[in-house]
Amino acid sequence: MKLLIINGPNLNLLGLREPAIYGSQSYAALCEKLKIWAKELGHEIEIFQSNHEGVIVDEIQWAYGKFDGIVINPAAYTHTSVAILDALKAVAIPTVEVHLSDISTREAFRQFSYVSLVAKKTICGKGFDGYREAMEYFTQETPS
Ligand code: DQA
Repeated sequence: MKLLIINGPNLNLLGLREPAIYGSQSYAALCEKLKIWAKELGHEIEIFQSNHEGVIVDEIQWAYGKFDGIVINPAAYTHTSVAILDALKAVAIPTVEVHLSDISTREAFRQFSYVSLVAKKTICGKGFDGYREAMEYFTQETPS
């Protein structure tokens, strides 16, 4: 399947950023793993990262008609962005949400996710492996 993988703000700083929570591996290392897993699972992927909400909305709109699935870690916008939720609803591309950390056990403000309202599945607290699980979803399910 053709999958678009979207990463939100500050994920480009993985490795540097709060390693006790997000791990010591870099964003480049994550991208390498994503490419390896995509090959193993037979997916064609495009990886996108932005620190800007509107740019993420533009990317989701651009994906319409081009991708079979979206894997998204909206990062901090998870908890604030009705615009990203609306964009995902608008294009209706099956979406799996990933978080490196377990947002359900962190600060109260991280425990609500707008994207969960549209996501077929939400994977939390599994680090980089969560992205693999998200890609596996698209091999096992026939998204509607
Ligand atoms: C995150 C969790 C968010 O609360 C946080 O703002 C992030 C990363 C995660 O992957 O665990 O930037 O989405």
